[in-house]
Amino acid sequence: MQRSWTEADDSSATLLRVLSLILPTFNEAQNLPELLPKVQQALGSVPYEIIIVDDDSPDRTWEVAREMGKADPGIRVIRRVGRWGLSSAVIEGFLTATGDMFVVMDADGQHDPSIVTKLMQALEEGAGIAIGSRYVEGGGVVGEWDERRAMLSRIATRLAIRLCRVKVKDPMSGFFAIRRDVFEDALPRLNPKGFKILLDLLIHIRPHTRVWEIPFTFGVRAHGESKLSRRVQIEFIEYLYEAVLGRFLPLTFVQYCIVGAMGVAVHLAAYALMGWMLTGDLTPTPAQDSRAFLLAMLGGIEAAIVFNFILNNAWTFARARLRGWRAILGFLRFNAACAFGALASYSVTLFLFALGFGFVSVFVGALVGVIWNYTMNRVFTWRDR
Ligand code: GDD
Ligand code: MN
Repeated sequence: MQRSWTEADDSSATLLRVLSLILPTFNEAQNLPELLPKVQQALGSVPYEIIIVDDDSPDRTWEVAREMGKADPGIRVIRRVGRWGLSSAVIEGFLTATGDMFVVMDADGQHDPSIVTKLMQALEEGAGIAIGSRYVEGGGVVGEWDERRAMLSRIATRLAIRLCRVKVKDPMSGFFAIRRDVFEDALPRLNPKGFKILLDLLIHIRPHTRVWEIPFTFGVRAHGESKLSRRVQIEFIEYLYEAVLGRFLPLTFVQYCIVGAMGVAVHLAAYALMGWMLTGDLTPTPAQDSRAFLLAMLGGIEAAIVFNFILNNAWTFARARLRGWRAILGFLRFNAACAFGALASYSVTLFLFALGFGFVSVFVGALVGVIWNYTMNRVFTWRDR
């Protein structure tokens, strides 16, 4: 057993008895019936509860799980509707758990159930967190990891390690045990976004927490496919940003500005296109043809507004995404906010010019416009539900 501290310390060894095993699932209906008997066998006489947290899987994993729960009162199922994400599923499992120690494990057969008791033993001997680790001696990965995923995983792991309060080799593992008190202490600080619940815990625990790594071999998925999609990878980058800089500049504001910058390009393109259609010239000026210029400008502005709305709705404010008629209403609100934002920007620029500030006035005006738009749209268009 690999330990991250050296001195013997028996005083903190407590007897923790009841295990809460959390199995997050999404489309694992085929895997669950194969896994559960193995888990039960590996646990032997350990008092346990198994909490399956399923995100309303289309393959009805929750139903399969409930069926198995009929034969074993130690199995509980949460079918989450309208909530999703691996990290938040695990936290929801922790929140309803009754045990003193929690273990999290994939439900697809990639995590060896016989490691669970080793993780528990580490907690009993004084660790706050015990990790099933691929990267300590004796651990590893078998099977079909393609070169791309292996490389991404290495880079991500290196970045992640820098952020952890306690240094470990495998902060991205999905297989770990944590004591209830350690979890509850970190809980108010957690950011349950995406896949990396263990990393989130390692970033938010107290620095003196003892973390041990137990080697294990990450196996091959039995049935179905991985849910670690491109979207999850983007969420990971967003997560890192929030962990490092989120306090100073909210992620949604940065996203809003990125969208806005792309919107400027759309604005210019639409202006040029309309100018070309109306006058045959890509860059109409008011002196040439004031009507065509005005139309091209308005076209550019509205094209940018439509573009920004769609992208902000899909990405920046994905958590409060508007659909159906709400999206139409939201689009109107967005237009109104942007019109007021333009007015605010214009007035500030005029005012500063009048005070003699020169070109800086335009810059400050633009900044005021962006912050105004962002704030108004946050409050009125994409309200956090
Ligand atoms: N409830 C819920 N909601 N469960 C989910 C979700 C979700 O959005 N996404 C995935 N799961 C479940 C899966 O059903 C599976 O039981 C487990 O979480 C892990 O998901 P996989 O899709 O099998 O992930 P993976 O094998 O690619 O990644 C594993 O290894 C990584 C290290 O390389 C996971 O253990 C990761 O956490 C780990 O970082
Ligand atoms: Mn897996």
